[in-house]
Amino acid sequence: MLVFTLLLTLSSGAWADTDVSAQISRTLSHGPWPPAAAPDPSNRLSGKPEAIRLGAVLFGEPRLSANGGISCQSCHQPQHGWSEPKARSEGLHRLDRNTPGLLNARLQRWFGWDGANDSLWAAAIRPILAATEMGGSVAATARLLREDRPLACLVRRVDPAAATLDDEGLLVLAAKALAAFQETLISPRTPFDDYRDALAASDRAAMARYPASAQRGLALFIGRGQCATCHTGANFSNGEFHDTGLPFFVSDPGQPRRVDPGRHGGITQVLASPFNLLGRHNDDPAGAAAIPVRHVVQLHRNWGEFKVPSLRGLMATAPYMHDGSKPDLRHVIGHYSDLDEDRLHADGEAILKPLRLSDAETGDLLAFLESLSVPDDTAQRYEALRHQAASICR
Ligand code: HEC
Ligand code: HEC
Repeated sequence: MLVFTLLLTLSSGAWADTDVSAQISRTLSHGPWPPAAAPDPSNRLSGKPEAIRLGAVLFGEPRLSANGGISCQSCHQPQHGWSEPKARSEGLHRLDRNTPGLLNARLQRWFGWDGANDSLWAAAIRPILAATEMGGSVAATARLLREDRPLACLVRRVDPAAATLDDEGLLVLAAKALAAFQETLISPRTPFDDYRDALAASDRAAMARYPASAQRGLALFIGRGQCATCHTGANFSNGEFHDTGLPFFVSDPGQPRRVDPGRHGGITQVLASPFNLLGRHNDDPAGAAAIPVRHVVQLHRNWGEFKVPSLRGLMATAPYMHDGSKPDLRHVIGHYSDLDEDRLHADGEAILKPLRLSDAETGDLLAFLESLSVPDDTAQRYEALRHQAASICR
C-alpha cells in the first residue's frame, strides 16, 4: 500500500497528490531520531558526568530500601529494556502495575502510568519512599550518603558543598543524580528511522530496504488504525493520558476487587507532592517546565486513563499495558482489533473502534512495531559507569 503508492509517486514525480503527501508528512513526523537532547532546567545536575556516575551507582544500590534488598535495578532490569518480565511489579509488597521500561524516559512530560510525578528526578524519589516499593526514608537515605565512604566521596564530587545540605536536600541530590543517569538511556536508531530518513531524502533504494510488511503496517498505523493519533512524534507518544478500554479492576486472590483510578489519582498525587515542580527543589522555578503542573485540572474523565507509552524498544519490555495484562504484542494488537465497545462506550475514547484486523494486517502491524526495536548497549554502558565510579571512590 504505502510503499507502492510512494514509490509510484516518487517515480512519476506526482508529489501533489494530497493523500500521499499527507502519508509522507505523517511518516516524517515520527522522526528524526535521536532527538536533540537539551539539559533538564529543573535539574542542576542534568548532563553532569559526575552526577551520571553517582546515579548509575545509586541505581543498583539496595541499601536505599528498608530491607536492604531492593534497588531500582531489581525492577528496572537492564536486560529487559529496564523493565521486568512480571505482569505486576513487586517491591516490599505486590504493586497494581507493570514496571515500565526507562529508555527515552527523559522525553516524557509526566512520569508513571498515572503521571503522579512531573520530573524524572521526582519519579526517583517516589519508589524510594513508597512503602510498597523500597520503603526507604528521607533520613535513612541522607545517613547512607553521609556515612558510606565511597558514596560520600561520589556525592562530594557532584557537589563540593553537599555537607551543608539538610536530609531532604541530600535525598533530592540523589534523585537528581539518578535522573542524570537515566537521561543517558536513549534507544538507538532503528530500521524505521532509516526508512523515514530515506523517505525524507527521496532515496528510493534505501526505502526499499525496509520490509514490505513493515511498510504496510506503517500505513495501517498512520491510517485506518488511527494509532498515530495518540502514539505521536519521534517517541510515539503524545505524552498524555487515555482510556483504551482495558478492564477497570485489579484483583488479587482473597481480596476485594479494586479500581485503579489511573490519571485521576495521579493528578491528586502530583499536586500534593512536595517534590513537584512548584516546590522548592525545582532549579528553574520561573522556567517553562512547571507550566503543565501549574495548569493541570482534574476531570471525571481522567478515571481509568493511563499514559500513552512510547513504542520504541518494545521487543524487550513484555508484558504490556499498565497492568501487564498482555503477554506479547500480538495480544496488544488483538485488544485494539476486538475492543469491547460497551466498556469503551461508558467512558473511553471516542476515536477507538474495534479494528477487526485480518491475520495479514495483524502480521503487518507486528512487523511495523518490531521495526521500532533494535538491541542497545545501555546495559554495558551502565556497568562501565559503575566500574569507573568504583575506581574513583573506594
Ligand atoms: C518495586 C519495583 C520498582 C522499584 C524498586 C523501582 N521502580 Fe520505578 N517503576 C516501577 C513501577 C511499577 C512504575 C510505574 C509506577 C506507576 O505507574 O505507578 C515505575 C515507574 C518509574 C518511572 C517512570 C517511567 C515512565 O515512563 O513513566 C521512573 C523514571 C522510575 N520508575 C525510576 C525508578 C528509579 C530511579 C528507581 C530507584 C530509585 C525505581 N524506579 C525503583 C517499579 C519499580
Ligand atoms: C486513544 C489513544 C490511543 C490509540 C488510538 C492507540 N493507543 Fe496504544 N496505547 C494508548 C494508551 C493510553 C496505552 C496504555 C494503556 C494502559 O496501559 O492502560 C497504550 C498502549 C499501547 C501498547 C503497549 C505498550 C507498552 O509498553 O505496554 C502498544 C504496543 C500500543 N499501545 C500500540 C498501539 C497500536 C498498534 C495502535 C493502533 C492499532 C494504538 N496503540 C492505538 C493509547 C492509544
